[in-house]
Amino acid sequence: MNARTRVLTGITTTGTPHLGNYVGAIRPALRLAAQPDTDAFFFLADYHALIKCDDPERIARSRLEIAATWLACGLDPARVTFYRQSDIPEIPELAWLLTCVTAKGLMNRAHAYKAAVDANTAQGEDADAGIGMGLYSYPVLMAADILLFGAQQVPVGRDQVQHIEMARDIAQRFNHLYGGGKALLALPDAVVDEDVATLPGLDGRKMSKSYDNTIPLFAGGSRALEDAIARIVTDSRKPGEPKDPDSNALCAIYRAFATRAEGDAFAADLRSGLAWGEAKQRLTACIEQEIAPLRARYDALLADPEQIEASLRDGARKARRLAGPLLDRLREAVGLRTPLAASATRAQPAAGGARHGRFVTFRGRDGRFHFRFLGADGSDLLLSVPFDAPKAAADWVTVLDKAGGGVSFVWGHEGLHLQAEDTVAGPIAVLWYGDERLANTEPQPDAAARDALAARLVEELEARWRALRDG
Ligand code: TRP
Repeated sequence: MNARTRVLTGITTTGTPHLGNYVGAIRPALRLAAQPDTDAFFFLADYHALIKCDDPERIARSRLEIAATWLACGLDPARVTFYRQSDIPEIPELAWLLTCVTAKGLMNRAHAYKAAVDANTAQGEDADAGIGMGLYSYPVLMAADILLFGAQQVPVGRDQVQHIEMARDIAQRFNHLYGGGKALLALPDAVVDEDVATLPGLDGRKMSKSYDNTIPLFAGGSRALEDAIARIVTDSRKPGEPKDPDSNALCAIYRAFATRAEGDAFAADLRSGLAWGEAKQRLTACIEQEIAPLRARYDALLADPEQIEASLRDGARKARRLAGPLLDRLREAVGLRTPLAASATRAQPAAGGARHGRFVTFRGRDGRFHFRFLGADGSDLLLSVPFDAPKAAADWVTVLDKAGGGVSFVWGHEGLHLQAEDTVAGPIAVLWYGDERLANTEPQPDAAARDALAARLVEELEARWRALRDG
């Protein structure tokens, strides 16, 4: 029914983004997210960042810089679910459920952990010297990131493929133990884009912070870009002498920002004697053409961190709306919670004998999906806002039934509550879950009628939830 592909990737919030990150990760991920039929989830993997870095200031600065970078490069938070890992408490909770089914031997085989062990052994140290549980359990946390959102495709670099395979292994084991034949957790696939160039750095090796050969993306402004490009290592051929365009990084970087024809022309000019200095100026101008407008946005965002925070909070709300219901199902599956006696659909009373109200979901004439709450006598008490997917409507019914009992006819802002509202057609009562507007009554002739209807609605909802709790 759902033809959209769910794509998810995490961005570790350490370091300052460089041109290699932009060409190799940021730009391709944003192009992928812009494709129709793609539901993209991008998040700041700040819990993962803690594994590599214990400097709070760097963690904080890096988070802002990286969020600003992705937003400046065109991430549209209205299309993409963009959030911060540490805003989603369901992630560490799922990580624990997964930890309990993950074989220690599987983690022993993780590349990053093995590399650390090998380095220790080579130096004659104890095998696990200096290795924390964070590094060891890294793949389980990453599996939780992925499985919590039912991601189908996970775009990553080649070095991360093993982690996605581990996430599959862990999900399969969880499904086997607790699914009773059902796939509680969807199995993800790694997607490695073979077309994406790895950009060479100043010295011609892969551009990487660990080689100290990077060109900054935004940091330091156009001046820093120009300075870094001036440091690209070339041979000492004079202006006018023919040059090998592939003898250094210039041409490969140029091609990452130019059309094929422009790249070919650049190479041809070098072969026929273009001076290195002038070639570097042309390269700078070519990169600037793409980057300068993004840098202006980046600077504006960094000057207003509250705007970034607000966008992340919005994203977290969107993400948790999906995460909450899945985690509820998993808690039940492992036995931490007892399933409600009746789910929304099972609760449909036998004809004629309804003791309490019920939820129904349906497709409206607008082509979108809604739920209704019907009173015990079948009267129509509440109609939801429209949702794009039938599952969204059904998930909200589940959330409401789980939250059951919290509703009151108050003018508060926390949890599940009703608020009074005046519309042109008359006063209505609106059901809110936190700051999520969910559903409302029909307009009433006056406020007194609205208040009476709201009181009846609360009574009927509570009767339902009492019945569910008591089985
Ligand atoms: N480990 C990934 C990296 O270093 C970042 C990451 C964390 C991630 N969680 C994820 C990537 C989930 C994809 C999916 O690049």
